[in-house]
Amino acid sequence: MCGIVGYVGKRNAKDVILDGLKRLEYRGYDSAGIALVRNGSVEIRQKVGEIRNLEELLDNESRRGISFESYTGIGHTRWATHGAPSDINAHPHADQSGTVAIVHNGIIENFVELKERLTRQYHVHFRSETDSEVIAQLIGIYMRDAESLEDAVYAATQDMTGAYAFAVISSKDPNKIVAVRKDAPLIAGIGKGENFIASDIPALLKYCKEIYLIENGEMVVVTADRIDIFDENRNPVRREVFHVTWDVDAAEKEGYPHFMLKEIYEQPKAIEETIARRLDEAGNIRLDGISLTKEDLANISRIYIVACGAAYPAGLVGKFIIEKLAKIPVEVDVASEFRYRDPLVDERTLFIAISQSGETLDTLAALRAAKAKGARVLSVVNVVGSSVARESDDVFYTWAGPEIAVASTKAYTTQLTCMYLLALHMGRTLGTISETDYHALLAALREIPGKLADYLRDVREVEALAKILYTRDQVFFIGRGLDAAVAYEGSLKLKEISYINSFAIAAGELKHGTIALMEPGTLVLCLATQDALYEKMLSNIQEIKARGAHVLTVAKAGNRAVEAQSNEVIYIPDCRDELTPLLSVVPLQLFAYDVAKERGCNIDKPKNLAKSVTVE
Ligand code: M6R
Repeated sequence: MCGIVGYVGKRNAKDVILDGLKRLEYRGYDSAGIALVRNGSVEIRQKVGEIRNLEELLDNESRRGISFESYTGIGHTRWATHGAPSDINAHPHADQSGTVAIVHNGIIENFVELKERLTRQYHVHFRSETDSEVIAQLIGIYMRDAESLEDAVYAATQDMTGAYAFAVISSKDPNKIVAVRKDAPLIAGIGKGENFIASDIPALLKYCKEIYLIENGEMVVVTADRIDIFDENRNPVRREVFHVTWDVDAAEKEGYPHFMLKEIYEQPKAIEETIARRLDEAGNIRLDGISLTKEDLANISRIYIVACGAAYPAGLVGKFIIEKLAKIPVEVDVASEFRYRDPLVDERTLFIAISQSGETLDTLAALRAAKAKGARVLSVVNVVGSSVARESDDVFYTWAGPEIAVASTKAYTTQLTCMYLLALHMGRTLGTISETDYHALLAALREIPGKLADYLRDVREVEALAKILYTRDQVFFIGRGLDAAVAYEGSLKLKEISYINSFAIAAGELKHGTIALMEPGTLVLCLATQDALYEKMLSNIQEIKARGAHVLTVAKAGNRAVEAQSNEVIYIPDCRDELTPLLSVVPLQLFAYDVAKERGCNIDKPKNLAKSVTVE
C-alpha cells in the first residue's frame, strides 16, 4: 500500500509528482504530500484526505503568490498503518535538521527501538506517530558525517528491519533521489534529461515506457542524467530495461463514471486476451514459458492454491476444475493462514499463488515459505514483473490490463480463465480427460467472451433492482458447488464497496445454523446456475422462502422453475455448468456497483482499503 513518486529533471517536479500520485491513489488515499529541494532547503506540503485536498492547498498557495517549484522532489499517497490519517502523520517526513525528507511504503518493524535510540543518543524529537519518521531521522543523523546521500541511506538501512520501499531527498546533496527496496515494489523510470522513481507503473506511463524493475535489497540513485542501481553490498548492478506495453489510455476512465464500471465492461476483451495468449495456431492450449511436462505433472502429489481477497474464490473455482479434469488433490488457503500453519509441503507439491498485483505481502510470504520447503511455484499474476511473478518458477499472466478500482473485477475473471486453461492443459497432458472432452470444454470457454458481451449489452434490470434494494443493511449470498465460490466473491464485492454487512455460505450449510438469521424480508442472493445441483438448490431456496426471505436468484437462461420461489430472477446466458462462474459473477459485480452508487459510496476507493496490500 501507499504510493511513491519521485522526479529529477527539467520540469516542475510538483506537477509530475501530483500527476503520478493521482494515478497511484488506488494504493492508499488517507493523506498525500510532496517534498521538494528548493533554494538550499527541503520544503514539504502535506494534507490529510485525498490528493485533491493537497492540490487545493497548493492552488491556494499559488493564488497567494507562494511558489512551490523545483526540479527535484518526492511525493506520497498514504494508506495508514502507524498513526491515524492526519496532516502530521502524512508523508513526506523530514529529519530534525530539516535537510532530509523521505516517503515510505511498508513497515519499519524495529521503529520503537530506533526511536528510543535516536531520542536517547541524539535528543531527536519526533513529530509524528508514524514508524516512517525514524527513516528520516536516521538518515539525517548519518548525513552529518556522510559524503553523499547514498552513503547515509546505506548506513540507515543497516539499522532497519521490516518490509519497505522508500525514497529520500536532501538539501545537502541536491538534484538527486535515493530509493531503496526491501519487499515492497519500486521502479525507476528512464526519461531524456529526466528520470523518475515510483512504486508502480501507472504513475509513470504518461512520461516513460522504459523502466528498471528494482529488486529486493537494491538501492537506486537517480539524477536527471543517470540511474545507478546497487545491490545490498553496494556493488553496481546492470539491469535490463523493461519495456511497458500498456498505453496511458488503459489507465484512464475513458468516459466511464468509475474505473470499476469500465473494468466490468472490459471483461469480455480481457478474458478473450487471456485465452488468445495461450492458444497455438491449431487452437490448442500452449503454456509458453511454463515448463510443466507430463513427468512434472505426474510427479505432483498435491496442489496448494494460495491467495487473498477476491483471488481466494478464484482459487476455489481452480480447485473444483483441476480436481475434476486433472485428478490431482487441491487445497485452497488464504495466504495469511497458510504461512503460519506449517503446511505439508514438499518437492512433490505444486504451489499456485494467485494475485492481481503480485505484490500482496501475505501471498508473497506464503510463496516463499512453500519454496523454502521445496515446492514448485506457479503464479497467476496480472502485473508483469511484480514480486510474485519474479519469485515464481513459472508465471501464468492474466492479460487483464491495468486494474485501477480497488474492487477486483476483470482481474478476477481472468484469474478464473487461467484456472480453466491450466486445468484443461493438465488434464490433457496427464490423459485424465478425453480428447473429445478437452476440445468441447475449450470450445465452450472460447464462447464465454461473446456471451458476456451479449449479457452486458443490457443490464438495466440489475440497476433497477439496486435502486429498490440498496437500503438493506444485511445481505446473504448462497450457492452450491461452483456457485458457492461465486457467492463468496459476490459477497466480498458488495461489502467492500457498499459497506453493507454481507455474508456468503454454501447453501446446504444454511440449515446448520445460519438459517436462524432468516426473517421476513431478509435479502438473499441465490446462485442457482448448476444444472447438476438445480433441484437441491431449489429446495434450499424453498427453505429460506418459507421463512419469508426476499429471494433474488441468478440462474441460467431457460431454467424458469426457480421463478416460482424467487422475488426476482436475473438470467445469465446458458453455458456448461463448469463455466458459469465466468458469467454469474458479473451481475453480482454490477449489483454491488449499483448499490454502492445509490448509497453514495466512493466506489473506486472504498474506505479503509487499498489496491495493493503490502503489509501483513
Ligand atoms: O493483488 P491481489 O490479487 O493479491 O490482492 C488480493 C486482495 O487484496 C484483493 O483481491 C482485494 O480483496 C480486492 N479488493 C477484492 O476486490
